[in-house]
Amino acid sequence: MQIIIMPTADKAAQITAKIIANEINNKPAYKLGLATGRTMEAVYAKLAEMNKAGKVDFSLVKSFNLDEYIGLKPDDVNSYHYYMNYHLFDKINIDKRNTHVPDGAADDVDAAAAVYEYEMEDAGGVDLQLLGIGRTGHIGFNEPLSSFASRTRAVTLTQTTYEQNSPLFANPADMPMEAVTMGVGTILEAGKLLLLATGSEKADIIAKTIEGPVTSMISATALQLHADATVILDEEAAAKLQGIETYKWYMKKDKKLIDILGL
Ligand code: GLP
Repeated sequence: MQIIIMPTADKAAQITAKIIANEINNKPAYKLGLATGRTMEAVYAKLAEMNKAGKVDFSLVKSFNLDEYIGLKPDDVNSYHYYMNYHLFDKINIDKRNTHVPDGAADDVDAAAAVYEYEMEDAGGVDLQLLGIGRTGHIGFNEPLSSFASRTRAVTLTQTTYEQNSPLFANPADMPMEAVTMGVGTILEAGKLLLLATGSEKADIIAKTIEGPVTSMISATALQLHADATVILDEEAAAKLQGIETYKWYMKKDKKLIDILGL
């Protein structure tokens, strides 16, 4: 696992956007796995800026989102379909027919989840999966006890996730307690994993994710099993890492990274 620690949340988002743009520039028909949540808003704003400035081209990119609430229609302001259009797809030159978000409004969510898995496979798999992290340690909506072999499926959300995400709803009681999410097994099949976490409220779960034992109680610990996983943090989210000085040492010695960071 590679750990990148940036001084501020803004710089952490900037480097995340830069890594994604570099990947697309090296392979224009890139298959990009996308995430939602407050943390990603800055990344998408930066990617939109770079696209406008001609620094990255999304015209051949295919995207696959991690998750969606069950019962919310794509035009619902709280749906992740809406989030993605609002924060990214409407602001870049991606062909919307190449964008995919799990269907939480389907009559048969399980059948739609199976089709979603097929679509990813048919596209040749996800090259890079962008990830945020919830307070329970979820990646996507893989709450505690999610099997590391799990695939795209319907799940029940926890009380902790309700407390974290419901303030985003005009009426918090309207937040669905069920979602459809790529499984941990699905996520682990991506060529690269890139997890971004910022702010002090993520420090505890980040320390467990990076330094704790691998456990299905914290699905983000599955990153330890992936051969090409990078975690990007700001100083606040990195604050509880016991090995912080070692990770910073690796960073300073990594020539490829120094190149990307422009140091
Ligand atoms: C939601 C998403 C997760 C994301 C999390 C982080 O729960 N389903 O995929 O990791 O939000 O949220 P935030 O960035 O708002 O802390």
